[in-house]
Amino acid sequence: MAGAKLDYDRILVTGAAGYLGKLVRGSLRGRVPHVRLTDIAPMAPAVGGEELYPCDLADAAGITRALEGVDAVVHLGASLNVDNWQQTLSINIAGTYNVFDAARRAGARRVVYASSHHAVGMYPTSQQIGIDVPMRPDSLYGLSKCFGEDLARYCWDKFGLEAVCLRIGSAKPAAVERREYATWLSEPDFERLLLASLSAPSVGFSVVYGMSDNGEVWWDNAGAAHLGFQPFDKAVPPAGGIPAAPDYPLQGGKRAAHGMLEGDARLGAKR
Ligand SMILES: NC(=O)c1ccc[n+]([C@@H]2O[C@H](COP(=O)([O-])OP(=O)(O)OC[C@H]3O[C@@H](n4cnc5c(N)ncnc54)[C@H](O)[C@@H]3O)[C@@H](O)[C@H]2O)c1
Repeated sequence: MAGAKLDYDRILVTGAAGYLGKLVRGSLRGRVPHVRLTDIAPMAPAVGGEELYPCDLADAAGITRALEGVDAVVHLGASLNVDNWQQTLSINIAGTYNVFDAARRAGARRVVYASSHHAVGMYPTSQQIGIDVPMRPDSLYGLSKCFGEDLARYCWDKFGLEAVCLRIGSAKPAAVERREYATWLSEPDFERLLLASLSAPSVGFSVVYGMSDNGEVWWDNAGAAHLGFQPFDKAVPPAGGIPAAPDYPLQGGKRAAHGMLEGDARLGAKR
């Protein structure tokens, strides 16, 4: 998507080696003079104005250095491993704290934070929810995203660090599972969401659902209209129609299964 420059000098991208991180690299190319990329995993060589900065999110001093001279952050780095509390704690919670804390100390203007629909995954699929419903995490992973959103609100209220929390649905090349016909976020729509979040003139603390213009709608982005995010893609069912199963009753799908507590197989087995 060729397009307008962004009004930032240097953007830091965490999780730059990951699926969405690679998309962000492509989206930012040519739009800002400097892009600093960080991850614990190997990253493709830097091109253009890119700079590689390998770092563990749990390393507070390293993340402080990563934020030097940065005026916006796209914070994607996370553990998606739902059954490991220690990883959730050190990467998603402490790591996210390190990023926001270093960002506000460095005088950054805005953080675009990859939250998740798993922050509200215990809502039933029969209920359409807006951006202002109470959070209902469906897993330790979802709980860590609630922490990130609350941290973002705190940093806006207390320090004036702007944040857009993206409650991403299912970002992947195409919808496959039944539930993804509601939750799917196409790659071009992810880019639209990213660029809207970075370029909207004034966002304060904002929450927005990351979904394409799908036929089935669980989430209402009316409260995030100020971001100007307009998805254009739609999950197209295969010739045989949307798969009937698995048909989970809760928006978080299998992560929201009753009695499942990550890391505690015994509890799951008892219920
Ligand atoms: N892809 C989706 O459908 C989806 C949905 C909801 C939310 N999200 C969120 O979006 C973000 C990006 O997701 P993704 O699909 O690209 O995942 P991904 O697993 O491909 O990328 C995550 C990146 O974080 C890095 N990382 C993990 N531990 C780290 C550490 N200790 N220090 C530094 N980096 C570390 C990984 O190496 C990886 O490159 C995540 O925060 C995820 O929770 C994604």
